[in-house]
Order: sequence, then C-alpha cells, then structure tokens
Amino acid sequence: PISSLIAASKSISEGDLSVRVDTTESPDELSALSRAFNSMTEQLKNTQEGLMDANRQIDERRRFTETVLTGVSAGVIGLDAKGNIYLPNRSASELLATDLDKLIGQTLGDAIPEMASLLSKAMERPGQSHQAEVKVNRDGQYHTLMVSIAAERLEGKVIGYVVTFDDVTELLSAQRKAAWSDVARRIAHEIKNPLTPIQLSAERLKRKYLDEIKSDPETFLSCTDTIIRQVEDLHRMVDEFSSFARMPQLSLSDENLSEICRQAISLEHNRHPDIDYDVNLPDQDIRLYCDHRQVSRALTNLLKNAAEAVTGHLENTKKTTSKGRIHLSITTGIKNEKEGGRGMAAMDEGTISILIKDNGSGLPGENREDLTEPYVTTRTKGTGLGLAIVKKIMEDHNGHLSLDNNPGGGASVSLVFPPMEKIADKKENGGEVGAMKVATSLLAQKS
Ligand SMILES: Nc1ncnc2c1ncn2[C@@H]1O[C@H](COP(=O)(O)OP(=O)(O)O)[C@@H](O)[C@H]1O
Ligand SMILES: [Mg+2]
Repeated sequence: PISSLIAASKSISEGDLSVRVDTTESPDELSALSRAFNSMTEQLKNTQEGLMDANRQIDERRRFTETVLTGVSAGVIGLDAKGNIYLPNRSASELLATDLDKLIGQTLGDAIPEMASLLSKAMERPGQSHQAEVKVNRDGQYHTLMVSIAAERLEGKVIGYVVTFDDVTELLSAQRKAAWSDVARRIAHEIKNPLTPIQLSAERLKRKYLDEIKSDPETFLSCTDTIIRQVEDLHRMVDEFSSFARMPQLSLSDENLSEICRQAISLEHNRHPDIDYDVNLPDQDIRLYCDHRQVSRALTNLLKNAAEAVTGHLENTKKTTSKGRIHLSITTGIKNEKEGGRGMAAMDEGTISILIKDNGSGLPGENREDLTEPYVTTRTKGTGLGLAIVKKIMEDHNGHLSLDNNPGGGASVSLVFPPMEKIADKKENGGEVGAMKVATSLLAQKS
C-alpha cells in the first residue's frame, strides 16, 4: 500500500490529479492515510478545474470587451493612473485621424492637447464623470467631439481612466440647421406679409400726388423712392430666408450643365457689366443628372459672392486700374485642376467639378466650414444664407462644396458632383430630410 501511495504522489506531482489509491485492503491507519490522500487529491482537482474555468471566463470576457471596443463607433481610450495612453480602440484613431497605437505610453495631454484640460479636471475630481465638447482640427477641418472621461477605481484607488468620445459635428450642424430653418420660416412669414402693401402704397403715393405737390417735390420723390428701394431690399432678404426655410425636394433629370453655367454667368454679367467674366467649358457639353433650378441657384449664390468680393476688394484697395475677374470652369473625371488643399485628391471617374475663382478679398477667417453655417456673414447687408443654401443643395446631390483661397489672392470655390448613380442613390434613400429627422430625434432623446 505504501508503494502505491508513493506511485500516486508521483503521478500527482506530474500533474495527473485523477489518480486515487486503493483504500480497502490495508491496516486501519494506512487506510485512513489513503482516504485522506484521496480526498486531498479530489480537492486539488476541483480547485484546479475551478481555476481553469475562471480563467476561461476571464479570457472570454476580455475577448468580448475587445470585440465590443473594436466594433463600437465611439472612440475609446484607456489611460493608466498617470494619464498615459495604453489601450486605444480603432474608432479613436479614426476619429482623431491619428494612429494612436503609435502613441501608446504618451500622456493624453501630449497626444491630444485638446483633451488635456478635461483630463486634469477628471484627475482632480475622480469621483465624478466629466463631459465636454472639444473642438479638434484634423487635416484642416474642425470637428466637434463630445468627450467624457471617467475614472476607473479599485478599492477607492484610481487605477486608470477611460476616455470615450464621438464626433457630433454633423449632429450639431443638423440641429442648428433645423432650428434656423424654423426661425427663418417664422421671420419670413411675419415680415413678408406687410411688405407688399407698403411697396404698393409708396408707388401709389408717388404716382398720384407727385404732380400735385408744389412746395418740395424733390423730397417727396426721394422719400418715396427710398421706401420703394428699401422695401425691395427687404423683399430680397426675406425671399432668401424663406427659400432657406423650405428647401424643396429635389426633382432630378438629365440636364445640360454647361448650358446652366452659361446662363448663370450671363445673368450675372448683366448685373455687373464692369466685371470680367471668363468661362472655360469642355468642348462637349457636360450632362448631369441634377435638379436644374437648385444647381442654378447654387451657381448664382456663388457668383454673387464672388462679385461682391471683387467689388468690395476694389473699393477697399482703391485700385481703379485693375479689374474684377471671375473665372468659371468645369472639370470632369480624373483630376481636379485646383492647386493645393483637398482639391488635389484625384476625382473618381464621372465626378464633375465646377470651379469659380475670383480675384476678390479672399475668404475671411480660418475655419472655412463656419462660412457655410446659416447666418454667418461678414457683410453688412448679408444674410449669411448664401453658402448654407449651396451646401444644402450639394448635400442633396450627394456632392460637396469646397472653399479655398488662391495662393495669389481671391477665393476658389468648387461644387463637386459625384458620378450620376450616386446622385440618384441619394434621392432613393430619402436624402437629407430623413437624416435630419433621425438626428433631431436622437438629440431629443439625449436631452
Ligand atoms: N468669393 C468669396 N470671396 C470672399 N469671401 C467670400 C466669398 N464667398 C463667401 N465669402 C464669405 O463668406 C461669407 C458667407 O457667405 P454667404 O453665406 O453667401 O452669406 P452672405 O453673402 O449673405 O454674407 C460672406 O459674408 C463672406 O465673408
Ligand atoms: Mg452670399
């Protein structure tokens, strides 16, 4: 019996916990020892199995967490207690347009300075969760991230932090757009109604009484004319408001884009005969599946901005010798001819780009995206709706508006349309209206 105990101990030490010794045919004490031995091995086996199970569970959970982290669209970064990055997920790198895996070990403040102040708040008060909107500039574009930082604690001690964030730029913009359209609709409605009677009355006064007034007909005339002119201005502004408020659904058909461009230019040329307009279109007329009226409207808005920019610039610089110049060209297919910036990217086959270049003051400020927000204007008589409308029209066509300054001064603005199938796609999917509804309802849920 002793030799069998020895043999069993040996097997156990080699890792085989299933051996048992025979407890029947031995004297009492030895049999007790053998039983104790067996129960000890039994316990050992159970403990070992329990440990392995726990390990498997931990492993499964870790894999699950990792899959969740890779799968979620939100950016997640794990920090150690000192604020050093140790576990960024893929979305985090994508949202920040930086390869965070290469920055592991750096402090968050060094890697993403925009988040530094939020992290130091979280470090000061680890008991609370901290949230803030953080603006980051990546590749020349501003994004608004909603960032929250929570401390990870074990038995009252902070062992690390978890940073989560999401890009809310589009959401905010959609929300603002919805709010502004509402304001615009109301304003337009309230102001538009009285305008027509005011104008008609002023015209009538002028027609009926001009001859009868003997004392000071000049003043009478200039006053009525002022009323009429100002009311016209108001009318124009209100029109812009109301057209922004109810941007109609697209009605797409196969259009001659070259002709649309020529018409827009000729209209503008009539308005500003002193500006040099110059059009450069491909020999063959370009066709585009688009909403004729909307595209004309976008072009008119851009040409109007260009005209205002060159006129203003000439007045400011008092250069009477030089002339305002506005250049329109269409490019298709492989390359966009614009120098610098995002325009350098090769265009897909079938992409059509209309470029409008002027020699005016150039775009103000750093953040071009801001200019496309409603009611952002630098002009005293501006409404700030021109570019917002253009942006909306381009979004509806699944394309985009790109704003840039020329190296030699003046602005370069292009409308980039995707290949026709993509424009049609957008329409079938319900387009922007649907997206906006989703965005606003999401926001409503959040608050
Ligand atoms: N071609 C351009 N050159 C210089 N600045 C421009 C040009 N186009 C637009 N901008 C700037 O963008 C702003 C917003 O334009 P827009 O949305 O059309 O509104 P508005 O024309 O009513 O000001 C303008 O106030 C102007 O500062
Ligand atoms: Mg404008």
